[in-house]
Amino acid sequence: MMKNILVTGGAGYIGSHTVVELHNAGYEPIIVDNLSNSSITVLQGLKNITGKEFPFYQIDCNDKEALRSVFKENKIDGIIHFAAFKAVGESVAKPLNYYENNVGSLMTLIRLMKEENVSQLIFSSSCTVYGQPDQLPVTEKSPKKVAESPYGNTKQICEEIIEDTTISDKNFRAIALRYFNPIGAHPTSEIGELPLGVPNNLVPFITQTAAGWREELTVFGDDYDTPDGTCIRDYIHVVDLAKAHVKSLDFLNKHREVSFDIFNLGTGNGNTVLEIVNSFEKVTGVKLNYKIGARRSGDIEKVYADVTKSSEGLGWKTEKTLDESLLDSWNWQLRLTKP
Ligand code: UD1
Repeated sequence: MMKNILVTGGAGYIGSHTVVELHNAGYEPIIVDNLSNSSITVLQGLKNITGKEFPFYQIDCNDKEALRSVFKENKIDGIIHFAAFKAVGESVAKPLNYYENNVGSLMTLIRLMKEENVSQLIFSSSCTVYGQPDQLPVTEKSPKKVAESPYGNTKQICEEIIEDTTISDKNFRAIALRYFNPIGAHPTSEIGELPLGVPNNLVPFITQTAAGWREELTVFGDDYDTPDGTCIRDYIHVVDLAKAHVKSLDFLNKHREVSFDIFNLGTGNGNTVLEIVNSFEKVTGVKLNYKIGARRSGDIEKVYADVTKSSEGLGWKTEKTLDESLLDSWNWQLRLTKP
């Protein structure tokens, strides 16, 4: 039975919500985060929700010896590896930072896992590995496309490194989870997304605009081949996403015969950018200032998940609606003070 779970990037957006769900399910999370894109205040939010102070180490996952001390001080049964950079544009400008941080830290972590006899890993991957799929909804069997960015490439390479490791070492077992578009925040508004600077992602940009932090949202293109011309994505509540990590650990516990597997984590529904804007205005009652602008280079026209494998394999399905997700994002935004 796995009990103590090392959560790298556990102070981040998806990591922190997963810490809560691990705790709720009876696991003992141990957080490692270098706080490069997160804040120490997240720990207080976690305490307010769970009543618990989780072990926390401010460590960079590329620092093998510092990381080893965490393994020495705790009996680690499994690892969920979130820690990574995720800004597509930045990865084009600074590819080496992305390869070093995302690929390098995974290699360091796996080497250490092997040295310390920890053999179960859940990895944060992305639907970015599919590029623009030829068929929708996209299944785990859909071919990977040449990555559009160094960021996307790091996710593909990391999946391959993990799979190769499971082939070479029969004890080593892993799951890659391909996230679609996580949105929302914890319903208590104690934790949520904390984008530093101007957000790249749609929903934080919407909430910051509605809160008056930004002048207006630019909708990137309305001439795509979709019902209203704007891009389609599969937006999933971060708490639903977090719960799938717990189900993945349960899956590894139960299916000892599985050495490597991949699951899509989405809702199975696609929504256009304008549907998101309309839904946001409806649930919050706030009018959003927006304009239609040019396409964003590298954007995918439409992508949404086939979740048959994850619902059947993991015994998991999403519970939150799009409206609930956007309301939780908004309530979280209202807790934030402008930097
Ligand atoms: C992007 C990445 C994806 C990565 C994810 C991580 C691309 C092509 N994909 O996802 O690989 O895993 O970020 O954060 O970059 N939009 C606007 N105006 C805005 C912001 C976004 O119209 O100000 C639109 C975009 O054109 C897109 C949708 O909103 O259609 C979602 O955008 P975003 O939140 O950036 O996510 P992805 O592009 O799906």
